[in-house]
Amino acid sequence: MTKTIIVYGSTTGSTQTLAEEIESTFSKKEIDAKLVEVTDIVPSELADYDLIVLGCSTWGEGELQDDFIAFEHDMKDLELDGKKAACFGPGDSDYTFFCEAVNILEARLESCGAALVVEGLKIDGDVDGQLDAASEWAEEVIRNMS
Ligand SMILES: Cc1cc2nc3c(=O)[nH]c(=O)nc-3n(C[C@H](O)[C@H](O)[C@H](O)COP(=O)(O)O)c2cc1C
Repeated sequence: MTKTIIVYGSTTGSTQTLAEEIESTFSKKEIDAKLVEVTDIVPSELADYDLIVLGCSTWGEGELQDDFIAFEHDMKDLELDGKKAACFGPGDSDYTFFCEAVNILEARLESCGAALVVEGLKIDGDVDGQLDAASEWAEEVIRNMS
């Protein structure tokens, strides 16, 4: 069985909503994922999983959501060779650096040796009307993870 974790950082709840939808889709496909807020784990725990899904919103001018900043920094010494990974996040295309957090986390995962299985999911604006896109993306992750 593929051990899967979804880690999210969310200030106003949008990323959390996406994370819950992705977890629910995994569950319907009989993929039992651990869903955890980034403040509740340390980076080294990621190495216990086969599939690592990171979700983070973008704040400031293309920066990670506050809770993810130290976590991403502390990921730099992780060795994730052989792990599969995928990233998602909400943002707003009115900003110059749309969903830059997804790009930052993808680069970090790849630098640690993980392989990205799909293109990152970037949701523009209110997430509530776009949960189908999150669900479809989660299904694509499942199709590509083996
Ligand atoms: C002050 C501020 C700065 C933001 N900066 C960006 C940005 O640089 N790029 C982007 O795509 N979205 C940006 N956003 C939009 C947020 O990422 C968006 O509101 C997101 O849904 C928040 O998700 P969360 O509630 O999970 O933290 C910004 C929003 C605010 C209020």
